[in-house]
Amino acid sequence: MAEPKAELVSLRYPKVVLPKLPQDVCDILFAEEKSSDESIKEVSGVYHFEGKNIRINNSFKRQKWISAHYWMPVLPNTQSDDSGFGTEDGSDFSLFDDCAQKRRVKRWKGADERGEYEVQKIVDYKFEDGKDKFFVKWCGWGSQSNTWEPLNYLHCDENLNSFMKKMILDVLFVKWRPVPTCKSLRTTSYHSIIEQWIRNTPKALYLKKLKGGFKQKPIAISTLAKMLDAAVNDRCSKKREQIVETIKDHCALLRMIQARKEQLQLLKKWEDSLNSVGPGGLTIENNFDLEGPPSDFMYITQNKTGPGLSSCMLIGQVAGCECTEECGTKETCCPNMAGVDWAYSAKSRLIVSPRSGIFECNRFCSCGPECPNRVVQRGRKVKLCIFRTSDGRGWGLKAGERIERGQFLTTYLGEIITSEEAAKRDENYEKTGLSYLFDLDMMDPDEGQMFTIDAMKCGNESHFINHSCNPNAHVAGVWIETNDPAVPLLALFARRLIRKGEEITFNYQGDQDQRNKGNPIRDDKTGFETDHLGINQPAKKKAKKCKCGSRFCKGFYF
Ligand SMILES: C[S@@+](CC[C@H](N)C(=O)[O-])C[C@H]1O[C@@H](n2cnc3c(N)ncnc32)[C@H](O)[C@@H]1O
Ligand SMILES: [Zn+2]
Ligand SMILES: [Zn+2]
Ligand SMILES: [Zn+2]
Repeated sequence: MAEPKAELVSLRYPKVVLPKLPQDVCDILFAEEKSSDESIKEVSGVYHFEGKNIRINNSFKRQKWISAHYWMPVLPNTQSDDSGFGTEDGSDFSLFDDCAQKRRVKRWKGADERGEYEVQKIVDYKFEDGKDKFFVKWCGWGSQSNTWEPLNYLHCDENLNSFMKKMILDVLFVKWRPVPTCKSLRTTSYHSIIEQWIRNTPKALYLKKLKGGFKQKPIAISTLAKMLDAAVNDRCSKKREQIVETIKDHCALLRMIQARKEQLQLLKKWEDSLNSVGPGGLTIENNFDLEGPPSDFMYITQNKTGPGLSSCMLIGQVAGCECTEECGTKETCCPNMAGVDWAYSAKSRLIVSPRSGIFECNRFCSCGPECPNRVVQRGRKVKLCIFRTSDGRGWGLKAGERIERGQFLTTYLGEIITSEEAAKRDENYEKTGLSYLFDLDMMDPDEGQMFTIDAMKCGNESHFINHSCNPNAHVAGVWIETNDPAVPLLALFARRLIRKGEEITFNYQGDQDQRNKGNPIRDDKTGFETDHLGINQPAKKKAKKCKCGSRFCKGFYF
């Protein structure tokens, strides 16, 4: 075997300082390092490529990130077969090691008794006399015995492919130099690089792509691979950077489209799970951003009780009516016994003020499930849609069909907790800016324990209803399985006609007319409350900026 000259190897590496790499190529390679601002870094770390982790050890040193634009390759040790890349265990490059299926190949001279030698790895490449030539390290032979072989002597596609990939990475990430002319290998490698770029697009970058909407048409990966081929072969560094820039831009778009696909699948799964538990007719829609289902939310169909409270409190004492004719025709029917007006029209629309209290027929009544005084207990009938708002209010709820004034929408469900527990939780919620607490203060606050519904972690679609200063829904207290004034069921009714697609809202501050009686009055402009002595004191809760967008918006809510 001819002895290759040691100098030959070092000649493969440029002696000049290399041109600046496109910033975003660096971004990808050093994505994990970006957070640190040390001025000089070593290019070591594990990079994901082709489903494998490639470890690169200090082979290249980066100079100052911003002010210096050079990448200085550390010349490989020509005495070993170190090709400039290293792995932790000292072998050169894990991609090579993965080529376990080393094949026997024909050598053009010095063959063994079987006429074959084994390629251990390919260490370098050159294009000479119109031919691709590869510098081969032979199994069982030292680096001094490496030889240059033309492509047609190497029937080791696997090895070659790995070499090509490394080579192209090398070209793209470290230095610009001609790449092999073997086209099919090149295209595969470019494909992998593009896929890697897509996978590694930083979130901030692909989120920017949302501005163009979800319908943007991406360029096919095969076209991008061709563009990359052109970029690598372009001798003008400006042009190369421009092309890579364009490719990376499309990679971000492709990543966004991929994330969108994953998001839609998750939302569909969530929609199905909500409908399988609840009464159905719920859809989920996010045509605004890439937010998926909330991570810490459980859909429930009836209230739960919180710490220290027994679920028995939800089914308490109650008396049933003995109506023999249709309910509502006799003085002895449930609402009359409770001292309130009959709540529903023949079409089950609410016809009384939501403040008056609704007493539906219950398990002890002689009437059947079709009784006109059983509306809320029959559950939601209207189609609703949980949707992503486009003005920073997170999720919201909208009508999935036209809803008549007075129609029952849904219940406000959650965990029933004591007012003391609510005060504690409220402090936490104030920090996050998200609150799902609803005080059950339909009764006189002087009498006994007060409760609050917390729909933060468990609830139904009402969890997503936003506040409005001019709402189209309101909340009524409904007593069905208990007449304990402290624990009514909360039911939402349409305050007026709601068109299909219109967002459903209620006033978080409750019914203003009612609240202003005896309770502190909040100055809508300052957010300060005036108590009955007329002393101004800061409101307990900080006022939050309201984005309801109604003509009557007060500017804040709490
Ligand atoms: C009961 S949740 C409503 C659902 C919530 N948007 C979500 O994504 O889960 C209440 C929270 O929604 C937001 N929100 C509701 N109404 C709002 C409004 N009118 N203006 C601004 N933010 C509002 C606030 O962050 C509030 O703490
Ligand atoms: Zn009845
Ligand atoms: Zn009854
Ligand atoms: Zn408002």
